[in-house]
Amino acid sequence: SSAAATPAERTLVLVKPDGVARGLTGEVLRRVEAKGYRIVALEMRTADDALLAEHYAEHQGKPFFAPLVEFMRSGPVVAAVVEGGRVIEGFRSLAGTTEPTGAAPGTIRGDLGRDWGTSVVQNLVHGSDSPESAAREIGLWFPAL
Ligand code: TYD
Ligand code: MG
Repeated sequence: SSAAATPAERTLVLVKPDGVARGLTGEVLRRVEAKGYRIVALEMRTADDALLAEHYAEHQGKPFFAPLVEFMRSGPVVAAVVEGGRVIEGFRSLAGTTEPTGAAPGTIRGDLGRDWGTSVVQNLVHGSDSPESAAREIGLWFPAL
């Protein structure tokens, strides 16, 4: 085994408008910190169309894209840069699967998410899905970092 420390990795976490509106910001951040990850940047803001179009560029053209953007700009979100060993995979694991109905108990979406078959899945949180996505998304939300 190597004596070298696990290299820190960073991911972008969003508490989406449903999470902020339901007062779950603290609960999400508590789970992040309890897992041993470090919050290195934190901001509340209401995203505009331009930011969201870039943030969700991979989903442009899909049927849920327009309702997704409308939902995401419907109220403030809390954006965080979170750091830790394998945190990209680790936060996705904390979050659970995209649809809250099928998300495992113990996960943010499984414990707290609601899935009522609305036009867009309101699933409380976002987490980057790869190192490339994380770098791109952190650059979008926190250009000064
Ligand atoms: P996606 O990146 O596939 O999911 P995740 O957030 O787990 O990475 O999709 C982005 C968001 O778009 C997702 O969180 C909720 C919404 N969405 C829908 O509303 N309907 C869908 O069929 C999909 C795939 C996503
Ligand atoms: Mg995604």
